[in-house]
Parts: sequence; structure tokens; C-alpha cells
Amino acid sequence: MQLPTLKIGSLLPKFPVVQGGMAIRISTAPLAAAVAEAGGVGTIAGTGMSLEELAAEIRQAKKLTRGIIGVNVLFAARNFAQLVTTAMREKVDFIVSGAGFSRDMFAWGRETGTPIVPIVSSARLAKLAEKMGAAALVVEGVEAGGHLGTDMPLKSILADIREAVKIPIIAAGGIATGAEAAKFLSLGADGVQLATRFLASHECTAPMNYKEAHVGVKQEDIVLVDSPVGLPGKAIRNSFSERMARQLSPEGEKCSTCLKKCSRRFCIFAALNRAQQGDLENGLIFSGESAVKIKKILPVEAIMEELVEGIKNSPAREDPQKDTIQE
Ligand SMILES: Cc1cc2nc3c(=O)[nH]c(=O)nc-3n(C[C@H](O)[C@H](O)[C@H](O)COP(=O)(O)O)c2cc1C
Repeated sequence: MQLPTLKIGSLLPKFPVVQGGMAIRISTAPLAAAVAEAGGVGTIAGTGMSLEELAAEIRQAKKLTRGIIGVNVLFAARNFAQLVTTAMREKVDFIVSGAGFSRDMFAWGRETGTPIVPIVSSARLAKLAEKMGAAALVVEGVEAGGHLGTDMPLKSILADIREAVKIPIIAAGGIATGAEAAKFLSLGADGVQLATRFLASHECTAPMNYKEAHVGVKQEDIVLVDSPVGLPGKAIRNSFSERMARQLSPEGEKCSTCLKKCSRRFCIFAALNRAQQGDLENGLIFSGESAVKIKKILPVEAIMEELVEGIKNSPAREDPQKDTIQE
């Protein structure tokens, strides 16, 4: 199929491939810049960073590339507004809000000329975001890593949302190859977002044991945990997730009230941070289902090449006969 053109406001990446934001400090400047340099769209995850740290990350990314760099912030973060306005002041190319959005962020976007891209998982929220002024939407299915807003597969919500809105939509969740990306593009997505596939790259700054944990994962080792944010989170099974499943609260952590609302069952930022530091037993290892299909840690350039070639070599539309059993 022909590569579609992804438009986010006036931004026109060479390829319709977005690297999804990954907190805490999994998608930082080097990964985002490498994806942007390879012709895609890079995203720094601002959640869990101080305002100074986020500003420094954006500046570093801008030194590394002249490509498109956005910032993703979890709406549930207490300092959401400050992180978003800091990113806008640093002239980031676009903002993605994860797991929620508010009217005022669209006003800040209009004031600074920054496109706003909410992540949605239903036609109702997609329509609302379009009405409020979203430049594009990330549509995330249950296959995605991190916090989830749905238990529905990407394919079914994508169809509903494509019908409901006119703005560009970016399909996310479970995509690891060009052939899979092509499937969602042929269903009407204007672009695709991949996170876990880009995490398992040379340029991701997470420790090697963390990246290796996302390679060749068995389907039964991808689990849901109850995040204190109030949403399920998709992660790799380890002793921490097992403790969570048994409802045992981990050792009491000092609360920094980093979330607007929190069940206080455990500190999600601290748990993600432990994993990011390489503690794979006591940390929370967020991961998408795409980890099942990842065979190797690769340079971003090679990941992008496979994606682009895989899209180009795929048929233009899904074959309606594909699921038909023939006698
Ligand atoms: C380690 C990890 C951290 C994530 N952190 C965030 C985040 O901070 N904000 C957000 O909106 N989405 C987050 N996500 C979701 C991704 O941006 C992306 O949409 C999703 O994982 C896509 O599915 P895939 O990983 O199968 O490609 C995270 C995903 C992973 C794997």
C-alpha cells in the first residue's frame, strides 16, 4: 500500500509513524530524536519529570534533530498543566495527553500554536476532543502498554472512531511490524503509534536488562495490574505484579502526591522508576502486547526501515475474504 500522509496540525512527518511516549524516563531525548531523525515522530514522556528536567530533555532533543518532537503527559499527573505549559514554552512541536484531557489545554494550544493530540479509546471522547480543537487523536486499544482506557481491541474501536471524527487518527496498541501497521492504516488510520517496539532499541536509554525483558515475551506473561491512577495497566509479569495480584501492598513509600487522584495502594511513579533503574523484581514493567512479537533489540533506523517497507509491501485494503473458511 501507499504510505498515507499523517498531518498533525501543520506538521507533516516523512513517515506516518509515531513513537509513543513512555514514562518514567523510558522515552527521553535520545530515543525521540532518533525516531524523528529516521523520518517518524518522536515523543518525550514528561510524566514524572521536574519542569527543569523536561525543559532540558526538549533542548537536548532539539540539538539532536530538526525532526518532529512532541511531549506526552499523563493527564492524571498533579503537575500536568505545568509540564504541558513548560513544553509549550520550549516550543515542542505537539502535545499528547494520556488518559484524559481538559478544555483549558486546547486554549493553551491555541495561544502558543501547539497542536494538541489526546489519547482516546471511545467514539464519544473522540468526538468531544475533536469539538474542543484536537489536531489529531491517538486511538489506543487494549493491546497497548501502560494505562488503558478500554478493554476493546484496537480494530473495533478504530472503526467506530473513524466513522465518528474527521481529524487524523493514529492507531496504537500491539503493533510491532510494518504488516500490522498496514492493517490499521488500511482500516482508515492516518498513522500508527508504537511504543514497546521502540523501547527495545539501541537508542532507548533504559538499562539493557529492562529492554531485554521486552524481547520474546510469552503472551501469558503480559498481565493487567490495578494502577492507583484508577485504571488498569498492562505490564510484564514479575514478582511485583504477582504481589499486586494478591492485593498485598508493597512496603510503604513516601507519598509525594504526584497524582491528582490516587488509591495510595502503591506509588506508581516509584514502581515504574525502580523498573527503569533495572530492578526487574520490585519494579513495574509496563509493556504492550507487541512484546510477544519482538525478537531483537534493534537500532531505530532498522525498526523504521522494516515498518516503512512492511507498509509499502502490504495490500491496500484488508481482504474481506481473509477470515472466510473455504471448502
Ligand atoms: C513502558 C511504557 C510506558 C508508557 N507510558 C505512557 C505514558 O507515560 N503516557 C501515555 O499516554 N502512554 C504511555 N504508554 C503507552 C504508549 O505510549 C503507547 O500508546 C502504547 O504502548 C502502544 O502500544 P505498544 O506498546 O504495543 O506499541 C506507555 C507504554 C509503555 C510500554
